Amino acid sequence: MAEKLYLYPLWLRVWHGINALLIIALIVTGISLQYSNTQFMIIPFDLSVSYHNISGIIVSVNYLLFFIANFISGNIRFYRISLKGLFQQLIRQSMYYLSGMFKGESSPYPVTADRKFNPLQKVAYIVVMYVFMPLVIISGIALLFPETIVPRVFGFSGIHLTALLHSAVGFGISLFLIIHVYISTTGKPISRNFKSIMTGWH
Ligand code: HEM
Repeated sequence: MAEKLYLYPLWLRVWHGINALLIIALIVTGISLQYSNTQFMIIPFDLSVSYHNISGIIVSVNYLLFFIANFISGNIRFYRISLKGLFQQLIRQSMYYLSGMFKGESSPYPVTADRKFNPLQKVAYIVVMYVFMPLVIISGIALLFPETIVPRVFGFSGIHLTALLHSAVGFGISLFLIIHVYISTTGKPISRNFKSIMTGWH
């Protein structure tokens, strides 16, 4: 029997649960806003706008709490990365996900008390939490207060460019979510990682 590790403290689980539910709400309302026209609406336009704005504000405050708590609690140490040998580590982990895993090989970077994430997870979490989330939040706040946006940038409308950035990063987060949930199912048994993020124990 493998050692039991307490890797997901309560604050992290609460942050993650709120974040997961609201990001799904943001994706659904965001797609509805993007593809609505006067003939076809997935969700009535005014409702989508309200749900999207409210969810966005809660996700932003929740993110700020995650950002602070991640430093204070020391959980940030699991996100530290060394560029030396990183490329080889990413290839090794990718080969495991693409082939080794299906042949019953064991994970090249198993979870330990000092290593919660494998190298691919680390890079994905750093990009999503420290690049995508700040970008989508800042561009979202700017779109909530469009008077703060520079009117023209190199001849293009500043609002359009901000909206383009917001949707592109939102698309990136949606893509991350699909891969993230799939990768979460690769535990043995399939439910293992989902139980961890709910109980805290790996
Ligand atoms: C249905 C939605 C989701 C499910 C089922 C889910 C599932 C999981 C699971 C099982 C874990 C623990 C395993 C691991 O560390 O990889 C985890 C951790 C994590 N998830 Fe999710 N997730 C969801 C949505 C999201 C979203 C929307 C984000 C960010 C935009 C996110 C970011 C993270 C991060 C950063 C961790 C690591 C937290 C830490 O330990 O510091 N997740 N998730």
